Amino acid sequence: MTARTAGDQAEIGLIGLGTMGGNLALNIAEKGFRIAVFNRTTEKTEAFHKKSAVLADKIVPSADLEGFVASIKSPRAIILMVPAGDAVDAQIAALRPLLDAQDLIIDAGNANYHDTNRRAEEAARLGPRFMGIGVSGGEEGARHGPSIMGGGALDGWDQAGHILEAISAKYEGTPCAAHLGEAGAGHLVKTVHNGIEYADMQMIAEVYGVMRDGYGFSSGEIADVFGTWNGGLLQSYLIEISGKVAGAADPETGKPMLDIILDTAGQKGTGRWTAIEALMLGTPAGTIEAAVGARNMSARLPLRRQGEQVFGAAPLAMDKDQIATELLEAALIAGKIVCYAQGFDLILEAAKQYGWSMPLPEIARIWRNGCIIRSAMLNDMATALTEDPDRNLMFAPFFAEKLKETHAALRAVVAQGALSGLALPALSAALAYFDTMRTGRSTANMLQGQRDFFGAHGFERTDKDGKGFHGPWAMG
Ligand code: 6PG
Repeated sequence: MTARTAGDQAEIGLIGLGTMGGNLALNIAEKGFRIAVFNRTTEKTEAFHKKSAVLADKIVPSADLEGFVASIKSPRAIILMVPAGDAVDAQIAALRPLLDAQDLIIDAGNANYHDTNRRAEEAARLGPRFMGIGVSGGEEGARHGPSIMGGGALDGWDQAGHILEAISAKYEGTPCAAHLGEAGAGHLVKTVHNGIEYADMQMIAEVYGVMRDGYGFSSGEIADVFGTWNGGLLQSYLIEISGKVAGAADPETGKPMLDIILDTAGQKGTGRWTAIEALMLGTPAGTIEAAVGARNMSARLPLRRQGEQVFGAAPLAMDKDQIATELLEAALIAGKIVCYAQGFDLILEAAKQYGWSMPLPEIARIWRNGCIIRSAMLNDMATALTEDPDRNLMFAPFFAEKLKETHAALRAVVAQGALSGLALPALSAALAYFDTMRTGRSTANMLQGQRDFFGAHGFERTDKDGKGFHGPWAMG
């Protein structure tokens, strides 16, 4: 099963032939690279090689790790597509004795970037080279072109970047793959990508709720609305698939599929990591936090059903004359701009705290295709961030104008939702962020007074410089 002569050796290797790993391997083979593959269970390796059909001659399967390593030409590059966490550490530990210093391990799973930071530090001490890359686009993206967010050793990208660019999605011919910074930078960007993904999905679900519960639209009517929106500024993969989900019929019953899906959301946790990171880094990301919270609430179905008995069911039907689908579209545009502004702000703060030179315009550019949050708006974001990467996205002229046009719609939808008992946590958080961002005199002075009253923490004054002032209550 293993290549023995140099001529048969592979240009790259991949461990972990699950859905994502297998599709990535097929993508690499299809682009003409010879790829060595290994899976803990040999049967899976054999089955994968057999199923790879016309690409089989580009694939070099191995039944053991030593044979797998021997089948890759030096300096070796090995992609790990194994479950995030301990499995990655175990795989690195098993590989390390078999590899040379100039070889490269690439963790392409959804790793927590703190783990990737640790592994990068360990690799710097013990070798071999190490990179952590975020791969977005699901199984379809892995097979035909993901967005690839690279982090770690720059010489690692020099070694394998050409393969990653070749297999990535393209936007107007440009690869949606880039090296974004040292250590965990790539996995941090993927984490934020998933936080934005959660928020985008949640806001779409909320406007779906307004149409279903507020307007009484059928799933088919909602599918048509999403289809219309996908022809405008909201054009995106998530709007496109939401229209398809709303329009699909259950093959078993013939009923709208969406009406039969149970309303409890799963989560592997990457969006949660984004919320945790935002809180730890002190950057406001309320829309993303609200989206994670909404998933948590959705999982408490028995509690919500109990609440219906106690308080009466929400939501109440909306006055259809009050809200038109155009306002929902505008509200979603506003919410989306706010959510991306929070995401880029978080990346910028992480870059500052870790000393990474994170190229925000490049991040927007490689998100334009292949990833789950790909959308038309990302091209405008790349332009805005190129003009000034340190400026909050909301203040870029293009987006400031869009927000001036749409924030009233966001307000109307959130208000109608509140009055109708229709929970809109992510859209409400987006409105709160927008309004707070334009409040030059907030109410945090009350917080400072309270803190000083019970903890003598001191405060600053508006009428003079200095810190550590105390209120009259401190006199006892
Ligand atoms: C992607 C996706 C992917 C994510 C799954 C499940 O970018 O391809 O974000 O990485 O893990 O979609 O995500 P949740 O279970 O957290 O919703």
